Amino acid sequence: MAQIIDGKAIAARIREEVKAGVEELRRQGKTVTLAVIQVGEDPASCVYVRNKEKACRELSIHSLIYRPSESIPEGELLALVEELNGRTDVDGILVQLPLPAHISEKKVLMAIDPSKDVDGFHPYNAGALACGEPGFVPCTPAGIIQLLKRSGISISGKECVVIGRSNIVGKPVAQLLLRENGTVTIAHSKTENLKEVASRAEILVAATGKAEMITREYVRPGAAVIDVGIHRDEHNRLRGDVNFADVFDVAGAITPVPGGVGPMTIAMLMQNCLEGARRSFSEKPL
Ligand code: GUN
Repeated sequence: MAQIIDGKAIAARIREEVKAGVEELRRQGKTVTLAVIQVGEDPASCVYVRNKEKACRELSIHSLIYRPSESIPEGELLALVEELNGRTDVDGILVQLPLPAHISEKKVLMAIDPSKDVDGFHPYNAGALACGEPGFVPCTPAGIIQLLKRSGISISGKECVVIGRSNIVGKPVAQLLLRENGTVTIAHSKTENLKEVASRAEILVAATGKAEMITREYVRPGAAVIDVGIHRDEHNRLRGDVNFADVFDVAGAITPVPGGVGPMTIAMLMQNCLEGARRSFSEKPL
C-alpha cells in the first residue's frame, strides 16, 4: 500500500511560509504585488484566475487583475505588458493561457520582463534553469520537487522517469530532478517500450495528458508516482493520468487527484511572487 502524498497539506505549509515572508517584507515597507492578465472569458481561465486572486488575498499579496476583452488587439496587450514591466510596484506578471487565436502566445510571453516572469515560461528563465543559473522556475515542476522533498523521498542517485516533454511540465521537471542529482529519462508518446522504460523508475512523473493511462504495468514496485494530469470523467469527477486504484498497492508513494500536484501550483506561484519581490527590493534582479 502506498503512502499518499498530501499535496493539500504541503501546499498549506508553503503558503504559511510565503505569508510570513510577505509580512516580513511589508514591515520593511515593500508590498508584494502580482499583476494577472486574463484575456476573454474562457471558463477554466476564470476559475484559475479567481483562485489566484483568492490566494493572493489570503497571503496579503496585492493583486492587480486585468480582464481585457477577447477582441483586444495584440499590440494593445503587448503595450499593457510593457506598462507593467516598467512599474516598480509590480513584482510579478502572469498572462493567463490560452490566449485567443489572433494573439501570438509566444510574442506575449517573450514580452514579459524575465525578472517579473513568475510563471517561469520566458525562454530566458527556461535557459537559466537548464544552465543552473538563478531564475524563475515554472510552478508545477517546482511544486513536484517540494512534494517529494517534504514527503521524505530523496531524489539524489534515483532513477527518475518523466513521461511528457512539454515546456511547462515535462522538460522543466526533468531539469529540476537532474539538478537534485537524479538519473533522468524523459519519455513521451513516441517512446518505444514505454512500459519497460517507465517501470525502471524509482520516481515516476506522469504528465501524459491521457486520463488514467498509467496502470500498474508501468510502475516499479515501491516507486514514488507523481500524477500531473487533470481530467473530468463522464460523471464530472476529477481523474489524473494515473489509474490510482490500480497503481495504489504497487507504488511506494502516490499523489492523489485532486489534492496532489494541483494545490502546489498556486502555492509555488505565490512563492515566486515573494521571490521576485525580494529580488527587486534588494535590487538584485536577474
Ligand atoms: N493556464 C493554465 N495553467 C496556467 C498557468 O500555470 N499559467 C498560465 N499563465 N496560464 C495557465
